[in-house]
Amino acid sequence: MPAREQDQPGGSVGARIRELREKVTHHSELYHAKDAPEISDEEYDRLFAELQELEQANPELISGDSPTQRVGSPPVEAFAPVEHALPMLSLANARSAGELEAWGTRVHNHLARRDVDPGELTYVTEPKIDGLAISLTYEDGRFVRGATRGDGRVGEDVTHNIETIEELPKEIDDAPPLIEVRGEVYLPIEAFAELNRRRAEDGLPAFANPRNSAAGSIRQLDPRMAAERPLAIWSYGIGVSEGMAFETHSGEVGWLAARGFRANPDTAVHASIEEVLDRCQWWLERRDELDFEIDGVVVKVDRLDLWNELGTAGREPRWAIAWKFPPTTATTRLKEIEWNVGRTGHLVPWALLEPVRVGGVTVSTATLHNEEDLERKDVRAGDEVVVLRAGDVIPQVVSALTQKRRKGARRPRPPKKCPACGTEIVKPENSVFSICPNSAGCPGQIFQHIKHFVSRGAMDIEGLGEKQVARFLEEGLIADVADIYGLGQEQLESLSGMGELSASNLITEIDRSRQVPFPRVLFALGLPGVGAVTAEALADQFGSIEDLRDADPEQIEETEGVGPIMARQVGESLADESTWQTVVRLKEAGLRMELDQSERRPEGGPLEGRTVVLTGTLPDLTRDEAGAMIKRAGGKVTGSVSKKTDFVVAGDSAGSKREKAEKLGVPVLDREGFDRLLAGELPASDDG
Ligand code: IVH
Repeated sequence: MPAREQDQPGGSVGARIRELREKVTHHSELYHAKDAPEISDEEYDRLFAELQELEQANPELISGDSPTQRVGSPPVEAFAPVEHALPMLSLANARSAGELEAWGTRVHNHLARRDVDPGELTYVTEPKIDGLAISLTYEDGRFVRGATRGDGRVGEDVTHNIETIEELPKEIDDAPPLIEVRGEVYLPIEAFAELNRRRAEDGLPAFANPRNSAAGSIRQLDPRMAAERPLAIWSYGIGVSEGMAFETHSGEVGWLAARGFRANPDTAVHASIEEVLDRCQWWLERRDELDFEIDGVVVKVDRLDLWNELGTAGREPRWAIAWKFPPTTATTRLKEIEWNVGRTGHLVPWALLEPVRVGGVTVSTATLHNEEDLERKDVRAGDEVVVLRAGDVIPQVVSALTQKRRKGARRPRPPKKCPACGTEIVKPENSVFSICPNSAGCPGQIFQHIKHFVSRGAMDIEGLGEKQVARFLEEGLIADVADIYGLGQEQLESLSGMGELSASNLITEIDRSRQVPFPRVLFALGLPGVGAVTAEALADQFGSIEDLRDADPEQIEETEGVGPIMARQVGESLADESTWQTVVRLKEAGLRMELDQSERRPEGGPLEGRTVVLTGTLPDLTRDEAGAMIKRAGGKVTGSVSKKTDFVVAGDSAGSKREKAEKLGVPVLDREGFDRLLAGELPASDDG
């Protein structure tokens, strides 16, 4: 009897996993080894993400030959191993004041046993960044290598991805022959939220937290992926160094800060554990205000000679400890799952919870992200669930305590009809989300759309928050975003509870928003997939909303960060009559629908329409200076080399970008070639 699918290991999930592995391996090979992809990057990512999610949910089905275990890379271009000259250690944890005090005592005792009188012991505190540990090697002041921690002894060479991190100094002044900076790569919370918005709109599953997304980005084989995500690095110390010795850890941090590294300005030195504990409390209180995630405070002995005396115990140094914040998770009962409709019609599941205190606030609703996530986590109404509140982000349900589940609890299904407008829900073939197709008329979508339009980062109309938007819609004052600009003082005053002053304040705010620059207006319009970063890139590329509308998908796709699916959706969206009418009305209301002359790249410059990548160090120019020169000549600078790159300008110690350019046949220019380029003598590039 032939084996049915269900009889094979892992049942139908197992079959899907095997199918995905084959597909991912096949397409990855086409892309990397043959340079002849057959599917878009987005489609590839989607396959990869689905595989990863299925494997995470079914760890027993993970096998060593899965592409996910190869760090997303075929052997031809896998990350090279890097042996750390000094091991990258981990940290012991203290979860209470008592445990921290006990550590202080152990430090004293250990030194006493070794007959070292430390005199007044001082300690350094700094935030424990929740990211990915990284080692950055500089030779003669030039950045030469970035490596992950790996197993602490051997990490992965991720130089090409680190190079895309704009803010990291690639060159440092008065540096010793060799110095290794250590730090943590992270994704700022705002950028993380933006990334997930984009992923949701592209039908990709959300990253669970900034840490995962930073780790995923830095371990992308394709530097373009890393370049699209605004990663940053906190540098917190020095590993090996030759020809230079520091006396204290705080001295190292100061040295780094003075050389342009992002070293935490709130790093502090203390004379007692008591002071350290106060500082830990201080960090706990500031935690939610930071634009990066921290999960505790690292406490280190300041004097480096004592580090040697104290040494390590296993993989943990005795000279440092991590004071961990109290957990921001709690368990509670999920009463019901509710479905809302998002700005672009996606159905979004929400958990209505028995109110519970998490990390200092009471939470009664939490996001379940999306349909796929909900299914993967297998959360059901009536379950006891774990709720997580991290930083500023919306509380989320992380898991259900399934062993406590009551009998008969059924898997939730998205509704058949839109909860906001009753339209039949559809599930497009290439999407993991169900959507309400009534984009022009669904009040739920309209509400979300207006909410996004007025939000911070978009038109930023203060005094027009979620509640006001809901009210104005309800009272018939507005029906779409353009109506906002027709609101009058009297109309507003007629609302109960709205006085003369708040009405006139709001009018002033609305008026002020007419000055919002075009890229933000474009973001506010909420075109599918277009987040703040992409909106900037589109504005830069096309200059005006009309030129964007008139572009065909292939042209739109040439924009940094835009794939074929988004390009098509943006085109379709602007071709839609009712969307365009709104744009026209907004323009008539005085909103900026094009870049100012001063914001534009000059037309007719020698580099018009050309994309240039800068790599290595130029003898007399910084990256910024060279970039500005390219822009003034009408060209565009991007962070990574692809087939869309016209020229690469390579200075000294240009590494992987130069190699990639040579492989793709992109002309590589030196400093003199760069001058000729700016003067309009273009060497022949492949596409003419
Ligand atoms: S010191 C001694 N300082 O925490 C080894 N680590 O749990 C630790 N981390 O792998 C290095 N912020 O990635 C240090 N201010 C900080 C840190 C920090 C985050 C990470 C680091 C390390 C992990 C150890």
